[in-house]
Amino acid sequence: MAALFDPYTLKDVTLRNRIVVSPMCQYSAEDGRINDWHFAHLAGLARGGAALVIAEAAAVSPEGRITPADAGIWTDDQRDLWAKAVKLVEAAGAVPGIQIAHAGRKANANRPWEGDDHIAEDDPRAWEIIAPSALAQGGGLWRTPREMTLADIARVQADFVAAAVRARDAGFRWLELHFAHGYLAQSFFSKHANQRTDAYGGSFENRIRFALETVRAVREVWPAGLPLSARLGLIEFADGDDLAESVEYVRRLKAAGIDLVDVSMGFTANDAQIPWGPAMLAPLSAEIRNQAEVPTMTSWYIAEPAQAQAIVASGQADLVALGRALLEDPHWPYRAARELGVENAAWTLPAPYAHWLERYRPASERQLTQAA
Ligand SMILES: Cc1cc2nc3c(=O)[nH]c(=O)nc-3n(C[C@H](O)[C@H](O)[C@H](O)COP(=O)(O)O)c2cc1C
Repeated sequence: MAALFDPYTLKDVTLRNRIVVSPMCQYSAEDGRINDWHFAHLAGLARGGAALVIAEAAAVSPEGRITPADAGIWTDDQRDLWAKAVKLVEAAGAVPGIQIAHAGRKANANRPWEGDDHIAEDDPRAWEIIAPSALAQGGGLWRTPREMTLADIARVQADFVAAAVRARDAGFRWLELHFAHGYLAQSFFSKHANQRTDAYGGSFENRIRFALETVRAVREVWPAGLPLSARLGLIEFADGDDLAESVEYVRRLKAAGIDLVDVSMGFTANDAQIPWGPAMLAPLSAEIRNQAEVPTMTSWYIAEPAQAQAIVASGQADLVALGRALLEDPHWPYRAARELGVENAAWTLPAPYAHWLERYRPASERQLTQAA
């Protein structure tokens, strides 16, 4: 039975425990270039004891950004800034990962704290948005995209490959493809967003074509010994959900070169009834893990150490990804280790912290931990 603080090895990468920093956009970059805020943010999260830090969705092209302030990885200059982030994360003992993304029809929005809605077409910050079909994301928040041509599809796939090369050259040891949350690849897979009549729309085979081709192309440049994961929207909580189809999608992606699936939601259906609640996607993660026989990571509303431990111990997921719990307390892993009675919990932290916390904890507490 695996435990939250057991190491985990996937290909040539060993994680010190099962806790992952879920990718979180900071909407704080300029022309896609990350800065001191990102360095502080990522280093702080790595220092807190998580095993894998997946840096935020980095756009593969300027048009693929969600907002004008998104991080990017389409220039060498951006790559070199990421290389510094890699070193900071590694200095704190965590494995550096990055998520690469194209926002598709959810591109060109204002930052969440500045409205979270689309930028108007006549705004100087507007750019053309593209998607499988000329259908706007629901709710009137986004503009209607232009339907992608076959040349657009090939160009975006080449952008993913170029981004993977830059991620590799920056020193990242884990690459995640953002194929969820209503962004570009998700909207190819989704029946709600894809109404194409060519080889990229309609049948299941056609709707998964964009993702499969992209994975195969990325796998050719991403080192064979390093994990490649995909964040997938495998459920919408709306009419049309089809678990068997989701499982088959995962099986195909695995055959194409995906090593682990970050199980998530689609966010493309207008009538979704999402049952927000603790560890809400862990049961789906278990289904995917068992039926498609692929390692998984689960996220969404996990905040309690015992819950994270139970997810790993029961085999619902191999890894637990946390977002807001880590923003609130980057040292959540250390606190969790103490709560779970892990011996020498302080050693989840780098030595310059661990030594003092362990040494000066009251003797009674240390004995309790050792007896547990
Ligand atoms: C500030 C913020 C930014 C996010 N950005 C991303 C992102 O870049 N890519 C992604 O896949 N998910 C993103 N998410 C979703 C998180 O990765 C995570 O799955 C979600 O917050 C649910 O986990 P939680 O309940 O532990 O916060 C973001 C969430 C937050 C709070």
